[in-house]
Amino acid sequence: MPHIDWDANRYEEDAKFVRDLGDEVIELLDPKKDEKILDLGCGEGSLTLKISQRGAKVVGVDSSYLMVEKSRAKGIEAYVRSARELDYHERFDGVFSNAVLHWIPQADEVAYGVYRALKRGGRFVAEFGGEGNVATIIKAISQLFEEHPQWGGFENSWYFPSANEYKKVLESVGFEVVSARIIPRPVPIKSIENWLDLFGEGIMKAMSEEEKKKFKSKLTEMLKPKLYDEERGWWADYVRVRVKAVKE
Ligand code: BEZ
Repeated sequence: MPHIDWDANRYEEDAKFVRDLGDEVIELLDPKKDEKILDLGCGEGSLTLKISQRGAKVVGVDSSYLMVEKSRAKGIEAYVRSARELDYHERFDGVFSNAVLHWIPQADEVAYGVYRALKRGGRFVAEFGGEGNVATIIKAISQLFEEHPQWGGFENSWYFPSANEYKKVLESVGFEVVSARIIPRPVPIKSIENWLDLFGEGIMKAMSEEEKKKFKSKLTEMLKPKLYDEERGWWADYVRVRVKAVKE
């Protein structure tokens, strides 16, 4: 997973929409009393807590130490661990992951670790950015970088697979895929600037503070006709891929 220095406090405040969208994924997981569940990329632990409130015994892992601290402060058993380096063997009844796997292009490594971590009959339920995710935003970012080569170039390193592509990844490590689908879901955000502050640090890493300001304001100007209206405010053009797979 690329190392991201998450601002855990700001994330908890401003990325509430990520948690709200996770409720349906918990429904799909349908955790039962005393089941052992792994929350892969638990973040600050809000969804992990909801799963444990259903009676399941949950362990959270996240690559960010700050996020793990936040989860632990909520009473969750959580560890700093990369999703690419899971070393659990037949330990969990379910693995859950929300809004994380688009950060990790090495999807087969993650899928293999998840498969190994599950008991026979265990299930993997995940949702993350799918094909077409934030396409309007990415197009505008690419255009701006083309116009400003001094900013160092933009390489889209997010992993946004189609449902079929991800289904194949899961099948290649042995999963039986129960469902895999794409869900277009525009989500309200505070502003493009705020979204970039949360998620765009890597994109702006070669820019000076002055250039970052210019970049954010130009992007806002370009996206306003497409992702803003008076009634709804700003939104991001999210598209999710949602899967459920079983280790037979
Ligand atoms: C997402 O949740 O889809 C996402 C978040 C940050 C950057 C790109 C995508």
